[in-house]
Amino acid sequence: MRIVSGIQTTGNLHLGNYLGAIKQWVAMQDALAPGEDAFFFLADLHALTVTLDPKLLADTTIEMAATLLAAGIDQDRAVLFNQARVPEHSELCWILGGTARMGWLNRMTQWKDKAGKNREGASVGLFTYPVLQAADVLVYRATHVPVGEDQKQHLELARDIATKFNTDFEVDLFPLPAPLVSQAAPRIMSLRDGTAKMSKSDPSDMSRINLIDADDAIAQKFRKARTDAEPLPDSFDALGERVEARNLVTVYAALADRSPQSVVEEFAGQGFGSFKPALADLAIAVLGPIRERLVRLLDDRTMVGAELAKGAAKARAVAAPTLRAAQEAVGL
Ligand code: ADP
Ligand code: NA
Repeated sequence: MRIVSGIQTTGNLHLGNYLGAIKQWVAMQDALAPGEDAFFFLADLHALTVTLDPKLLADTTIEMAATLLAAGIDQDRAVLFNQARVPEHSELCWILGGTARMGWLNRMTQWKDKAGKNREGASVGLFTYPVLQAADVLVYRATHVPVGEDQKQHLELARDIATKFNTDFEVDLFPLPAPLVSQAAPRIMSLRDGTAKMSKSDPSDMSRINLIDADDAIAQKFRKARTDAEPLPDSFDALGERVEARNLVTVYAALADRSPQSVVEEFAGQGFGSFKPALADLAIAVLGPIRERLVRLLDDRTMVGAELAKGAAKARAVAAPTLRAAQEAVGL
């Protein structure tokens, strides 16, 4: 088993990013058996399809890497790097561009959604993005790719590209990457509005717990989080439409690695006056040490860059032979 997964670089990481993405990677890394490996990359090349801010891109790449290292990604167990430093991704992408069909890309719902009515004004990169995604995984001959609902179509495309390449050139180069269905990543909602996703783009800082927040800020944000006056029932399902309550229980469960049901059972009959302080204490216990490591790493960006370089060297050692084989297959 070889897992490959990428993440968009983004600044101001928050609890939603941690529980919904970063922690999932750490769990995958920790679950690797001997002989299995995981390649985790920061998708800085993909960022170019939408970002035109060089300093922001450079900063968020380092900040994201620092956050992943602070959260427990370990270069001795997984490989962490940024895509731009492994040129085999782009080179294989070009070769696969000869295999992928316009019609396949035209059908990608993300392309349709993101380009909207302004297709003529969208970047070419936004259109060909799924071919780079295919190269991202095929260059490592990945067997498994963790995918959320929104990325399933792109993984299908990667499989189609791999199949056509293997067939057209009569090689057995690319295994078909399978979706890795881990326990669903929780979707964390805003602390101010239980129907909106917790997001860095929310103008209210009280809506999210930033990974850089001090303990007292974490406590204050949970104290002020919007809830209702009802006590917790004894089953998670019975929370029904109480979206804010569901969210806080979901956060508690994800932080504690427990099921939401076991959390409501523990707090059944109690109101948020007692649940919120318990949640704040738990969040501080989990996030405090991550923040302390993160602050240290952000003070030593050269070291974070060196970690990424170390990962890139390990990634290239695996990617280069695949690229070479793909070149040979097409006659380059
Ligand atoms: P934001 O919405 O703050 O801009 P991004 O879109 O940059 O966050 O997401 C980066 C990663 O974090 C993605 O894998 C995304 O699925 C995950 N993520 C972002 N927000 C949440 C959330 N509220 N709950 C769970 N996962 C999230
Ligand atoms: Na976003």
